[in-house]
Amino acid sequence: MIKTRDISVTVNGTLHAATVEPRLLLADFLRHGLGLTGTHVGCEHGVCGACTVLLDGDSVRSCLMFAVQADGRSVETVESLGRIGQMNALQESFHAHHALQCGFCTSGMLITATDLLKKYPLATDREIREGLSGNLCRCTGYEHIVKAIRAVVACNSGEAR
Ligand code: FES
Ligand code: FES
Repeated sequence: MIKTRDISVTVNGTLHAATVEPRLLLADFLRHGLGLTGTHVGCEHGVCGACTVLLDGDSVRSCLMFAVQADGRSVETVESLGRIGQMNALQESFHAHHALQCGFCTSGMLITATDLLKKYPLATDREIREGLSGNLCRCTGYEHIVKAIRAVVACNSGEAR
C-alpha cells in the first residue's frame, strides 16, 4: 500500500490542501496537481534552474524538493508575477529587451531575477550575472536577459535607460 500524506501549501496566495505521496516532487505537484505549468522542468536534478520558484520568498529548485517539504509554507510561481495584458515591470522589461527566444528558461529566470531584485534592488552587472549563474539558457547568450534586469535596476534607482 502506498503511504500518503496530507499537506497544506499556500501557492500564489491561495491555500491548497492535498493528499500526496511523499516522493512527489514540488515541481510535479505544482504542474500536475495544481495545473501551474509555468514552472518548467528541464534537467530534474538541480542544474538548469527552469523549475525555480519562491519558497517563503527565497528562490529554490522545485525539482529538488518534495511537495511534503512545502507543507505549511508559501510558494510563488511565475503565474504570480503578472498575466498577459498585466505583466509586471520585470516581465515588461524581458519583453522590451528581447530577453527570451524559446521561453523555456524564462519562468526560472524571472523568478530568480525577482528574488535577486528583492535582495539587491540596485544590483550591479556583476551581481546580476552572479545571480543568474544558476539558470541556463540555450538561446539568448544571456546578454539580453542581463539588459532587461539592468533596465529594472535603472528604474529602481530613478535613472531612465
Ligand atoms: S529542472 Fe530543476 S534545476 Fe533543472
Ligand atoms: S530562451 Fe530558450 S532556453 Fe532561454
